[in-house]
Amino acid sequence: MQSLPQAAGRAGLGGLALLLLLRALPAAGPRTLPLGLDAYMPVPDENPLTPEKAALGRKLFFDPLLSGDGSLSCSTCHVPRLGFTDGKSLAVGIGGRKGKRRTPRLVNRGYGRSFFWDGRAATLEEQVVQPIGNPLEMDANLEEVVRRLNARPGYAAAFGKVFGRPPDTDGVRYALASYVRTILSGNSPYDRYIAGEMEALTPAQRRGLEIFRGKANCAVCHLGPNLTDEEFHNTGAGLRSPGARDKGRVNVTADPVDTGAFKTPTLREVAATGPYMHDGSLATLEEVIEFYDRGGEPNSNLSPEIQRLGLTSGEKSDLLAFLKALSGEVREGP
Ligand code: HEC
Ligand code: HEC
Repeated sequence: MQSLPQAAGRAGLGGLALLLLLRALPAAGPRTLPLGLDAYMPVPDENPLTPEKAALGRKLFFDPLLSGDGSLSCSTCHVPRLGFTDGKSLAVGIGGRKGKRRTPRLVNRGYGRSFFWDGRAATLEEQVVQPIGNPLEMDANLEEVVRRLNARPGYAAAFGKVFGRPPDTDGVRYALASYVRTILSGNSPYDRYIAGEMEALTPAQRRGLEIFRGKANCAVCHLGPNLTDEEFHNTGAGLRSPGARDKGRVNVTADPVDTGAFKTPTLREVAATGPYMHDGSLATLEEVIEFYDRGGEPNSNLSPEIQRLGLTSGEKSDLLAFLKALSGEVREGP
């Protein structure tokens, strides 16, 4: 790789200006993002991201005070060391109540365009308080949670400092959304490879990347810095699980074409965070690869991009090796 001064020399004055600009960036600027992520993360005007707000959101995220009976916090299901999922095929809420979908990983969700497997929440601010009221998850009353927060001097002071007023529902919303925006995954072998460090991927992983982009057609949906198009597709996943009734995106759009469509999840940190798919119906990445190899699960609404692949066993193991190269550094907090 070229060193920066050389590159600037070749590119002439424009390059030099860029170099000076890069040097001038403050240490706390975009350079502190893990390698591979977009420097621009959309943040709504009414909720600017500040370290103090994210710290308050972090405290809330780990606090069982947000659940009806005080038995579980957001982090009970979104477990940090598991890429913020829980290793279960379906989420388990208060009193062992079984949820309807698998807990998604929460890395890089600040870049998301919609939230939940069916995208029914448009913003993180809208999304983050829904688990609190969901009877299958935290089963609490948001007003009651706000009363509890007001009764805790530590929280009352922290909300006062961040928002200039006592704890209220908007404060809870803003703080939790801000914390979720700080959960980032990047600097994986894949990112280092893309940045020019050829040896960061093993030969098998490099072959796997070629298959991912080529023969296996994965990159048509799993693309960009987050390996997702943030769109909804029918892969047929879940159709074989007993009692499969989840129609996914159609519940939001009422457009029959969206029947059985779910949001393409990011593949970052995917290796250690099974089971997979919205219903946890595939236990391992090997099973996921077999699933795509046979062309997903046939149904009247299957995406035209999902077709039989005819991968050899060598290609399958290369693809698996590549998916493991998407695990990097997970950061969270202010
Ligand atoms: C009982 C387990 C459970 C708890 C507790 C829980 N979640 Fe979740 N979370 C889920 C499940 C399951 C989904 C997907 C639900 C769906 O798609 O319908 C989800 C989805 C999300 C998403 C959307 C991610 C995406 O990519 O679309 C975010 C963000 C999130 N949760 C944040 C939180 C926060 C913040 C809390 C605490 C206030 C919380 N969760 C509590 C299980 C849980
Ligand atoms: C037509 C778009 C599309 C194509 C092509 C595609 N995927 Fe997916 N992928 C999705 C969607 C949508 C989901 C979620 C499906 C669900 O839960 O019902 C998904 C889920 C996954 C998951 C599970 C992640 C998780 O957290 O549960 C993995 C792993 C995955 N895909 C890998 C691949 C690989 C490898 C390929 C190529 C062989 C591929 N995908 C091709 C859209 C696609």
